[in-house]
Amino acid sequence: MAKVLCVLYDDPVDGYPKEYARDGLPELSGYPGGQTLPTPSAIDFTPGVLLGSVSGELGLREYLEGAGHTLVVTSDKDGADSTFDRELPDADVVISQPFWPAYMTAERFEKARNLKLIITAGIGSDHTDLDAAVRKGVTVAEVTYSNSISVAEHVVMMILSLVRDYLPAWEVVKEGGWNIADVVKRSYDLEGMHVGTVAAGRIGLAVLKRLAPFDVHLHYTDRHRLPREVEESLNLTWHESTADMVPVCDVVTINAPLHPETEGLFGDELLSTMKRGAYLIDTARARITDRDAIVRALQSGRLAGYAGDVWFPQPAPPDHPWRTMPHHGMTPHMSGSSLSAQARYSAGTREILECFFEGRPIREEYLIVEGGHLAGAGAHSYSTKE
Ligand code: NAI
Repeated sequence: MAKVLCVLYDDPVDGYPKEYARDGLPELSGYPGGQTLPTPSAIDFTPGVLLGSVSGELGLREYLEGAGHTLVVTSDKDGADSTFDRELPDADVVISQPFWPAYMTAERFEKARNLKLIITAGIGSDHTDLDAAVRKGVTVAEVTYSNSISVAEHVVMMILSLVRDYLPAWEVVKEGGWNIADVVKRSYDLEGMHVGTVAAGRIGLAVLKRLAPFDVHLHYTDRHRLPREVEESLNLTWHESTADMVPVCDVVTINAPLHPETEGLFGDELLSTMKRGAYLIDTARARITDRDAIVRALQSGRLAGYAGDVWFPQPAPPDHPWRTMPHHGMTPHMSGSSLSAQARYSAGTREILECFFEGRPIREEYLIVEGGHLAGAGAHSYSTKE
């Protein structure tokens, strides 16, 4: 029987919710492009409840204990004496969400003698050292598409709130003010602007589709070019590289995974090629940008605004400079953890576990590393150092 070690974020400060703002979730029939929703044999939770926090347990306890396995759930994940480190040596499976990642470093791989499977409940497996997973023959899987649309919606929200300067105006209202000049002096229309995405995978393409009705000029770069009919239907301009694309854009949104090709991409050099007053939105991973270069670009006016929900490390320390830099619209890492997304990635996590325990293949599109190689979605979207 297996030990499943699951790292989840803490419950709300006032306790696990007893009621919710809405009753249930809309029913979806599938993902864009035809990929099917998760297909576990059953679920033991009501879609729409909080599953990503410690008491939510991703809805897995009944299933796992019913099958004779052990489930350990903790939020205590960092530092050598953390519960996670203490529980790791005999764990067979590790599960965590990118919002509160269990950083699976090469050192932790050395400690995890029984480890066979790492599941990202969500999307983005950069918190796992993929080279170490390749070396150790550990399978890494994520719930591809489970929260891609959730993030795309967040990106559109953040683009509009930066360009229109929504958050400062909201602050003025809360503080009892009414100076219209104050709230419009940095407020523009998105219409007519040039908007580009770094990567047009599931999230990037969904952002492009959602922005097309705003009458903007759409640009993208990706190591896989989209089919011509998609480019034509959205009137997309493709660029060979990020460096080619960003100088023509008023708004840039980053939607690529963090891997050796993208790490540190947005540093002083690339930022200096952006239009003065451009907006940058990163909901992909923080280390695709250089933390201090972003602060400098906002201070100098090179960037008129920066928003996103990804930080490094997570949780971000109280003195992280992005909390106080000018003209930002940051949130904690939340875009992919709406209650809607949680229902999908919890069901997908169970699907992966069922496949693993029953000796059935995990869906190709969920795989990042398998059998000592990048596989499935991992081979399409990631690279390794070695
Ligand atoms: P996807 O695998 O569908 O798309 C990734 C795209 O990035 C692929 O089209 C790939 O070709 C492209 N790409 C990879 N390296 C590139 C490079 N060097 N230059 C240009 N393009 C490159 O993944 P999806 O669903 O669109 O997610 C993308 C990323 O977004 C995830 O890996 C994760 O880091 C992040 N994410 C963030 C979430 C949040 O809550 N903030 C939630 C879900 C994902």
